[in-house]
Amino acid sequence: MDKIKFLDLGKQPIANGFLTEDEFDDELRYDLSVGVDEDTYLVTHMDYIDPGLIFNDKYAYRGSMSRTMRSHFAEFSYSLRHYLPDNPQILEIGSNDGVFLSNWHQTNTFAVEPCGNFAKETNNLGYKTYNEFWNQGLSEQIAKEQGCMDLVFAANCICHIPDLDSTFKAVHNILSQDGLFIFEDPSLAAMININSYDQIYDEHPHIFSVTALNSILRRNGLSIVRVDNINSHGGSNRIWATKLSTVVPDASVRANMEFESIIGLDSLDTFVKFTSRVHQSKADLVELLQRCKAHNKKVISYGATSKSTTIFNYCGIGTDLIQYITDTTPEKQNKFSPGAHIPIISPDMGFDNTVDFAFLGAWNFADEIKDKEKDFKGRFITHVPIVRIL
Ligand code: TYD
Repeated sequence: MDKIKFLDLGKQPIANGFLTEDEFDDELRYDLSVGVDEDTYLVTHMDYIDPGLIFNDKYAYRGSMSRTMRSHFAEFSYSLRHYLPDNPQILEIGSNDGVFLSNWHQTNTFAVEPCGNFAKETNNLGYKTYNEFWNQGLSEQIAKEQGCMDLVFAANCICHIPDLDSTFKAVHNILSQDGLFIFEDPSLAAMININSYDQIYDEHPHIFSVTALNSILRRNGLSIVRVDNINSHGGSNRIWATKLSTVVPDASVRANMEFESIIGLDSLDTFVKFTSRVHQSKADLVELLQRCKAHNKKVISYGATSKSTTIFNYCGIGTDLIQYITDTTPEKQNKFSPGAHIPIISPDMGFDNTVDFAFLGAWNFADEIKDKEKDFKGRFITHVPIVRIL
């Protein structure tokens, strides 16, 4: 794969590597830069870091922490039943804390999850969970033990895996002849349109366009038959794929690829312009936070996200500009944010009307947060699509 580099986000820590003070000295940092593959136009990191450094027994991200995502998976599972046989055989790759699995019966639903803490949780819930990374060997083992799958599902997981060819071959191997492979991940078109460069971090070695996926899936015997543009994580694509067959793709496939061509996702120039907007976003955010500081305002951040790890480290924002971060995830509370070392506390302890400004680290849940925090008298700050006070 020949990649052309277009963006350098500097030294970054593990985005979900929330840590204690005694771990500061040994914290890992790596160079994060992004390029585009000349053949497929896949937007991908220039160098991949070892997934074992990210996805292990200490992994802190819980998919079920927002009402938005709980109902997203419940609603989609309900609608999916119409496309599957009775008592379908289902495999989820990257099942996290079971936010999707919990909508399905334990008997025929299987999971793969490399993070031991979460594999244990979903095994305890009765879903047979393989505590391993997804690969061809594991796919063969599961096919032998459980049979082929009517549905292979993955949410915010396929874009986590560096080797896509091997990933898709492993899916092809376990999918029944007319089975569905459905996966959703942040969309490159959305990232370019709303300047959400914070989608780029260690866990997202790729940001997918339909165009790039179409080429890579096809060379591994799979074809896209439908694309849903969904709101998750600031704009995602849900890809429906089957084994290469005579199924006529839905009009959404062509429509998405044409749209991507119109906005230039097959042109280096588009990415070079995106990089200029990222530089501007950094300058504007730092300037705004410095202005708040000069006026003695109390500024915090709302949601200790992986996305904000990219922002704080790329922009050089630390406790000088953001006093602390609030987050509802127990595993993140009373720790420090990766790299920038900003303390994280529960919203019950730190989100009140002494706060003048709250930077939306979890901007993708802005509607849910504004709804929940109606009594907040301060103002929210966001950087998407441009830096501004809401
Ligand atoms: P998310 O945006 O999915 O994070 P990432 O960038 O890592 O993919 O996660 C949102 C984070 O914000 C998660 O840690 C939970 C937290 N959160 C709150 O603290 N309060 C809220 O009201 C919501 C919706 C999320």
